[in-house]
This record gives sequence, C-alpha cells and structure tokens, in this order.
Amino acid sequence: MADEALYPVPDSWTGQCLVDEARYDAEYAESIRDNTGYWAEQAKRIDWIKAPTQIKDVSFGPDDVHIRWYEDGQLNVCANCVDRHLADKADQTAIIWEGDSPDESKEITYRELHEQVSRLGNVLKAMGVGKGDVVTLYMPMIPEAAYAMLACARIGAVHSVVFAGFSPDALAGRIEDGRSRFVITADEGYRGGRTIALKTNVDAALERPGAQHVEQVLVVRRTGGDIQWNARDRWYHEAMEAASADCPPAVMNAEDPLFILYTSGSTGRPKGVLHTSGGYIVYASLTHQYVFDYHDGDRYWCAADVGWVTGHSYIVYGPLANGAITTMFEGVPTYPDAGRLWEVVDKHQLNIVYTAPTAIRALMREGDEPVKRSSRKSLRLLGSVGEPINPEAWEWYHRVVGEQRCPIVDTWWQTETGGILISPLPGARALKPGSATKPFFGIQPALVDEQGQIKEGATEGNLVILDSWPGQMRTVFGDHERFVQTYFSTYPGRYFTGDGARRDADGYYWITGRVDDVLNISGHRLGTAEIESALVAHEAVAEAAVVGYPHDVKGQGIYVYVTTAAGVNETDALAAELKQWVRKEIGPIATPDLLQWAPGLPKTRSGKIMRRILRKIAEDSYDNLGDTSTLADPEVVDQLIAGHEGIT
Ligand code: PRX
Repeated sequence: MADEALYPVPDSWTGQCLVDEARYDAEYAESIRDNTGYWAEQAKRIDWIKAPTQIKDVSFGPDDVHIRWYEDGQLNVCANCVDRHLADKADQTAIIWEGDSPDESKEITYRELHEQVSRLGNVLKAMGVGKGDVVTLYMPMIPEAAYAMLACARIGAVHSVVFAGFSPDALAGRIEDGRSRFVITADEGYRGGRTIALKTNVDAALERPGAQHVEQVLVVRRTGGDIQWNARDRWYHEAMEAASADCPPAVMNAEDPLFILYTSGSTGRPKGVLHTSGGYIVYASLTHQYVFDYHDGDRYWCAADVGWVTGHSYIVYGPLANGAITTMFEGVPTYPDAGRLWEVVDKHQLNIVYTAPTAIRALMREGDEPVKRSSRKSLRLLGSVGEPINPEAWEWYHRVVGEQRCPIVDTWWQTETGGILISPLPGARALKPGSATKPFFGIQPALVDEQGQIKEGATEGNLVILDSWPGQMRTVFGDHERFVQTYFSTYPGRYFTGDGARRDADGYYWITGRVDDVLNISGHRLGTAEIESALVAHEAVAEAAVVGYPHDVKGQGIYVYVTTAAGVNETDALAAELKQWVRKEIGPIATPDLLQWAPGLPKTRSGKIMRRILRKIAEDSYDNLGDTSTLADPEVVDQLIAGHEGIT
C-alpha cells in the first residue's frame, strides 16, 4: 500500500544510534553472504572459557535435523551475565525492581547480584542439584526469580520456569515432562493488589501422580501469608543465610542445555522448548543491544513476566549479558490505576520501555489523561512484542506515550527463536505502524505458498526461515521427533514458524498471525487442543471445539463450542461452570470468553472438525463459509449460525 504512514528515523537519532541504514544494509548483506564468518565474529562479545573454533553445524533436514553452534566452545552463561561486569560495573545497578505496590522498589547492583546468585548456587548444590538437573521455577516477579535462573546457569542446572498464572495441573504436567526433582517458589505472589497462592498451588501439583517424585521445594517468603509446611520444604532466606558466597561458575559446553520453556502448539500438550548456552547468549545479547539501541547506562524496562520467553531473553539474559540496567516489575499496568507504567517510567527515569499490544490497547481505552499525568521525558525508545499491533494502537503509543519523539520497535519472534528475528533497528529504518519491518542480521525469512514454493517480491504467504541462527531452539525436550515433525515437516528443509505474513514493495514484513490452531490471547500462546481437552474432561461435555475471534483488547478471544453429553441441560449456570473449569484446569489466561452450545460440530465425512467454518461463525462472517457440501451433516452449519446470534 503506497499510502501507508511512514515515520522516518527522528533527526535526534542521527549520529547517536548504534546502527544506521547504511550500516544495516552492508552488515545484513555480509551476514548472509558469509553467515558462519558473521557469527564467528559475533561470538567474541561473550567471554569464553575456551573460544569456539567450530562455529556452525546445522541441518534442517529432510533426513536429519540438527542445530549446533559454537560446539567446541566452553563458557558459563551466569558468569557472562554477572561476574564479568564486576571489574567496571560492580556498583552500577543491574536490576531495578518495582513492586506491585507503588511504595515498594529497590535497586540491586552487580556486586549484590553476584553475591545473591553465588549463595543461591551453593544452596542448590546443597539440595543435591547437579549439572543437567531440571529445576522448576514457579515464582512471582521478584528479584529472586532472576537469581534462581542465574544460579541454575551458574552450576549447570537447567531451569524450567512455569508462569505463576498457571494452574496446579499445568504445573504438574511440566514438572512431570521435565522429570524435575526440585521446585523453587514463593509463599504467595502479589499482583494487582491481590495475592496468588503459589505455594498452595505447588502443594496441589505435587500430589498429582506424575509429580510426586519432587524431592525438595525452596520457598521464598514474599507475603508472609499462611501456608502449609511439608517435610520437603525449605525456606529460601534460611538456606541463603547458611550458604557461602563463593560459588565458582561451572565450565559448560556451548551446547549444554540452559533452559526449558514450555509453549503451546497446535496439537497435544505444551512442548518443552530447549535452549542451549553459547548460541542463545550470543543471540540474546546481540539482539538486545541493537534492537533496543542499548547504550551503557541506559535504564531499560521490559514489562513482561519471566514466565514467558520475553522475560528470559529481554529481562534477564540479554540485558545482563550486556551489563545493562534492567527493570523487573511485579505488578500490572492498571494497578493502582491506568497511569502506573508511566509513573514507573518517571520514578526510575527509564529510557526504554518494551511491552505488549494488549497492554497498550487496554491503556488506550482509559484515554490520554493517565499518561499525561507523567512527564516521560526520560523515554527514548518504545517496543512492542507478542502479537500483531494494530495501527491504531501503534499510533497512540507513538503519539501519546512517546510524544512522537520515540521510535517503536515492533519485534517479531517466538519462544522457539530465542530472540528477535524481525524488527526495526530504530536508527536504521523508517517505520510503518503495524509492520515488524525487516530481518535482523543473519536471519533469512521467506514467504512460501501451500506447496512450499518460495514467493518473491510483494506477496503474502506462510513465513519460513531458511537458515539457522545461534538462538534457535535445539529440540523439544525428550522428543526430538516432535521437534522435527512440528517445525521441519510442513516445508522440508525449512523452519516453519506457524505464522502467516505479507511483504510489501519496500520489503517490509507484516505478520498476519498464526495459520495453525494456536491462539494468541493477550500476547500469550494457547493451543486450541489444550482447551478442548480440558473441556472434554468435564462430565457434562461430549465434545468441544475451540477457535479464536477478534477481541478489542486481548487481540484474540477464546470462543468455545460445546456439545453436551446425553441428558445434560444447556443452562447458563453450566456455561459459567465450564468457563470456570477451564480456568481452574489451565489457568486464568485460558478462561473462555464466549461459549456456544452446539447440537453438533461441522465435520468432514472422515470425522475431521472443520475449524475454518467455526472460526467464520465466531467472527460473524457467514458470507464466506466456503464449500460446506462435503460435510457429513451440512445442516449443522445453519444451526450453529442461528445459535451464534445470541452469543456476545
Ligand atoms: O504469532 C506470533 C506472535 O506470537 C507468536 C509467538 O508466541 P510466543 O512463543 O509466546 O512468543 C511471544 C513473544 C516473543 C508468534 O508465532 N508474535 C510475536 N511477536 C509478534 C507476533 N505477531 C506479530 N507481531 C509481533 N511483533
């Protein structure tokens, strides 16, 4: 579209930015021409115990899929994030922590971070945690969450962070899959003025059959609330007091696992995305520096949760590897009121803010006043992540929050990619609201048709990546075959992202959203299959199908079609109960927004549910249902359309 708004790089950025347009063009071309050479050079940003000589060993199949970077290198990721900054930044702030309550905040220096992480490393060792052991973290957004991640990395353990909003069942499933024998949690968390019963959830999870093998639970005292105490529990503060602050970082190989993070796919249970050490830290730190144009001393804030990959790469690992000042926020953007984020910006004089479109849309609804109460003079750059940002929200973020002086980096990436793959570099690119613009160095995106043919020029298609980058996931934990199937079988020899995208005549990418059965609710991934299996586990449900529909604030909402079991009455009370049921089974983010009773579901004669039709009905677009004559029971469609009318 020729008439799209174009926002050039502000004049104030000229000469100040790390990467301008000329440098981007030259460096990008070189990074593709000599990909191995490029990544060999970038590896030098990391302190290696033994520098790698084998840079890249990658095959995207079809016969064999393997991804290895810096294979013969040795390093410790924690030492890169902490120890190496002690020489010149020991007294500089590493973490700014802002509590849920506006009255609570603190700053932690690199020296303090080093001490806390070292003590905790020794605590973990004393608990029996060794190299390669999986430690599950189920924690609020408190500094101890970052300490725990780094302490695992320090001693060579593998962390598996489970978002504190997930249910005991979801937690148990992840503990079981990771065969994790250790859990770190808190008594309770604070969020938006309420408490979350974390320890109680852990206790419930550990009663589930698959999670009873957990040996020890380390508990941070956050609220002082009442909790049950079991023989396997230990207080964090007591253990820390007794521990030595001398904990030499373990020597790790570049391809040793760093963490597992579970994410939803289109089928089955969430899968454990495995990231390893060397490549991940090179990629997270490099992208953090360039995408956020990070200069030493900048005060940076990624307002995500460490339960998601954004928190891993851009609150903890990327910034700390760069010796940056990173912010952790325990609360929510609307507590105590809709001005909170900007109050925090003023309070800590933050220069960079990185958040999700869903938060921007929620705040936009509250009008400009809560923003304008703050000065925001410290702000230089804004970021967006997790879902497509609609141009209206982009414009508001730019005009009201950033007062037209701050570029916005709309960063496209995934849990699987470890770091940002497509994004503006703010000093290098004129922006178009809603476009993630162009690939990062070394990244080769392409658009393909259904047959996998690459489409050139201005076009639309499914987004694939043609070659590896160091931050790419290595496998699905414990199930390499699932890794190959999920990402490399649709288009053999290519990494399939699951997203659709458009590329315009200027070569800018516009991510259009998932093309599979993955939902994106408020920037969080959920599989339709997970919600469906939670629903059918309820005795009143015979069958269920879940689809997404456009939602003003959440981006997508959850729409469920339920066929009741024989003899069950379709009442409002049952609908409410089923929504609560899903909430309890998976977590609050999975709560269905809308529920429609379905006398039957549209299926092909072979029994496959035609989700395309269900999506169209949920979206109110009946005109274009496509061919329904192949359905086993075409009348179901009319019944569902009639039934949809009352659903709001
Ligand atoms: O559909 C894309 C969407 O979020 C998915 C990845 O979700 P997750 O692994 O949870 O990671 C979220 C944080 C990186 C992608 O497949 N997505 C993420 N960022 C964007 C986006 N869609 C459009 N624009 C983005 N900037």
